Amino acid sequence: MRLPESQVAVLNAASATDERTIAQLAEATDQKPETVTGAVFDLRDEGLVSVTETTEESVELTDEGVEYAGEGLPEVRLYRAALDAGDGDAVPMGQVIGASSLGGPQVDIALSNFARKGYGHIDSGELAPDADADPDADEEAAALAALELGESVDGDVLDQLESRNLVVRHERTIRAVTLTDEGVTALMEGVEAAETVDRLTPEMLTSGEWEDVEFTEYNVEADAPEARGGKKHILRQTADRVKDVLTGMGFAEMEGPHADADFWINDCLFMPQDHPARTHWDRFALDVPPMEDIPEDLIDNVRDAHLNGVGEDGDGYHSPWSEDFARAIALRGHTTSLSMRYLSGHEVGELEPPQRYFSVEKVYRNDTLDPTHLLEFYQIEGWVMAEDLSVRDLMGTFEEFYSHFGITDIQFKPHYNPYTEPSFELFGRHPETGELIEIGNSGMFREEVLRPLGVECDVMAWGLALERLLMLMYGFDDIRDVHGTMCDLDLLRETEVLK
Ligand code: PHE
Repeated sequence: MRLPESQVAVLNAASATDERTIAQLAEATDQKPETVTGAVFDLRDEGLVSVTETTEESVELTDEGVEYAGEGLPEVRLYRAALDAGDGDAVPMGQVIGASSLGGPQVDIALSNFARKGYGHIDSGELAPDADADPDADEEAAALAALELGESVDGDVLDQLESRNLVVRHERTIRAVTLTDEGVTALMEGVEAAETVDRLTPEMLTSGEWEDVEFTEYNVEADAPEARGGKKHILRQTADRVKDVLTGMGFAEMEGPHADADFWINDCLFMPQDHPARTHWDRFALDVPPMEDIPEDLIDNVRDAHLNGVGEDGDGYHSPWSEDFARAIALRGHTTSLSMRYLSGHEVGELEPPQRYFSVEKVYRNDTLDPTHLLEFYQIEGWVMAEDLSVRDLMGTFEEFYSHFGITDIQFKPHYNPYTEPSFELFGRHPETGELIEIGNSGMFREEVLRPLGVECDVMAWGLALERLLMLMYGFDDIRDVHGTMCDLDLLRETEVLK
């Protein structure tokens, strides 16, 4: 015989000799009581089990009932107060009530039950307690006390307590299940669980099969798939915040090509053409035609600086300078190429001091991937052009900038760049590991950089790593958690971006 799974379980758990309640069957079959009840009714209809029903009553004290069980019934308290106040004689009602500690609606309750239960009578505003009354023999009080102890109580008193709203009665139907002879036979012959289906098909409807199959139950407690809205990546959000901060500090934004001529990326920066960073090892060279659109006079100035240096006693690199090499295109390894374009006047025309510019843009380096290095990352480039700038101005600008992100412990270390003098590396303390990590590079542009561009005053400049700023802000220690194919999605979803 084939039966739905829930019925098979119940049938196996039932006995021909012992009655089993629904609760016991539910426990034995590890099914919900309502599932078992449904199965039991179906099995009864099949004649496989018999069910006897009995009702069981339970009585529960209401809040008021609990209160009177503890403090005494109001009429009893009134009776005792009347005895105390008048030594057995009739006493003015107000006096008794004042002494009785009964309050509000309890006074009415006490008065209406007082006479009914023979505790005395009320006559022209006076309360006369009956000397023969015995509050210790109060049936209702005794019933309340018994119920509180979980004992059962006689019907009439119970009706009375119920009419006073001191108890509520509940009725439960207890079903006891036993196997019938047919049930025993069926089990002996073998009962198997019918196949369950989780989908109603048009074919099942036309064939009528739907009447015989068992449908899998809905699991209304199953977790629904979590719906998540889209969200800006924290790196992008932080980049936007950096832009806001720098704009607030009076900076204008630079834009420019990711693939650029080596001229802008390196030559303008007085980087010798045989510098190791300019070899194919570090650079992503692109196999595209060279850049035509570079001002001729600028090329001449830069070539001259490389060959002869600038100023009276300037000195150059004493090595050949190739214009073809300068025009060749590569992915920019830093965004200082943008600073060169703007400082030269090539982007927005000649600039008069003071000027402040920034960009938050991607750069590309042929590095080895590790927890702190990616092949591409974001640089926060910036520069200030003004008369008479000092290192103090540079440091002050960083302190102001980083304080907007809650970072106050910035350290500076002297450094060397071919294009700045003096130069400083910036370090910040990682909030989790406590290590000092490099967060940027900066300096005052050299004459060899500025004069060929036609800039006569001072320019201080920097390139800061956006990802490192993120590490200091959120405590990440592996850049690959936030960037690229190995990123930690939960971390990205859960990290709240600093406002
Ligand atoms: N270009 C430098 C780097 O990528 C940063 C920098 C910019 C340093 C401008 C000094 C001046 O590390």
